[in-house]
Amino acid sequence: MKNRKKAKLKIKNIIIILIVFILLGITISIITKNNAKPKIKDKKEIKQKEKILTEQEKKYQELNNINKKLDYFKDDYLDRYLEYKKNNQNLSNEQIIKNVNMNLDLEKYEQTQPAKYQNTEKILVNKYYNVGQDYIPENLELIDNQYAIGNMKMVKVAKEAFESLSAAAKKENLNIIAMSTYRSYDYQTNLYNRYVAQDGKENADTYSGRPGHSEHQTGLAADVYNKTETYTNFERTKEYQWMQEHAHEYGFILRFPENKVDETGYQFESWHYRYVGLEAAKYIKEHNISFEEYFATVIDK
Ligand code: DAL
Ligand code: ZN
Repeated sequence: MKNRKKAKLKIKNIIIILIVFILLGITISIITKNNAKPKIKDKKEIKQKEKILTEQEKKYQELNNINKKLDYFKDDYLDRYLEYKKNNQNLSNEQIIKNVNMNLDLEKYEQTQPAKYQNTEKILVNKYYNVGQDYIPENLELIDNQYAIGNMKMVKVAKEAFESLSAAAKKENLNIIAMSTYRSYDYQTNLYNRYVAQDGKENADTYSGRPGHSEHQTGLAADVYNKTETYTNFERTKEYQWMQEHAHEYGFILRFPENKVDETGYQFESWHYRYVGLEAAKYIKEHNISFEEYFATVIDK
């Protein structure tokens, strides 16, 4: 009798344990199912996301999916590319991407932003990128006075390259002399205001940077002359020919070429050179591009 009771109790316990396990199993499966299933709100979001993606895909298609080919394509600029394309149907998709990356779809001086890569030779200062009033580049040094008029400073790496360049030219009896290099914000302000008073703002803007927008403030630019001709005639000198052939060997580029006015925003300046480093100078020369294009397609992507 006692044994039967015990057996019954054992069976009861087993049944209870089984029920507990079954209930536990059911609960776990309900929880995991619920987690896997998107809630109604999530479903809506997914649908919306799918819709956005297809709209975006349509936009890429309008540009022949050039985004897959160009490593400098910027997804953030997609709408700007399309807007620019509308107004420039004659341009290739590649040119559209380049031009917008160079900000050519924006009004000059209207949407300016702080220059990127400050205190490096990658910095681009132009009518879209500026440095502040307080920006004084690090490591400014005086150029050896046999290669400069008066106290001319450049950033150390540019100064050393400039001295090597001038020394090499001198060996061929040519004079490449720095006559304006680093200029402070205040100096540029006076200069620009003087030009505006002389020629009017519209004209001044074709050849002079507004304060904070001149790359002379970066300490990486040099205006040169040959000691005999005035600097505006530099184009007619042997020294200019020499610079055409050799400037890149020292990391310098002609910054405002005749055929790049639309990109640089400045008229041709045969006397203004910019230190960009050896690799960039070589690339820019070989590809016959402006520093703006180099920045937009190689540096800032
Ligand atoms: N002349 C050049 C454009 C400058 O003022 O920076
Ligand atoms: Zn200059």
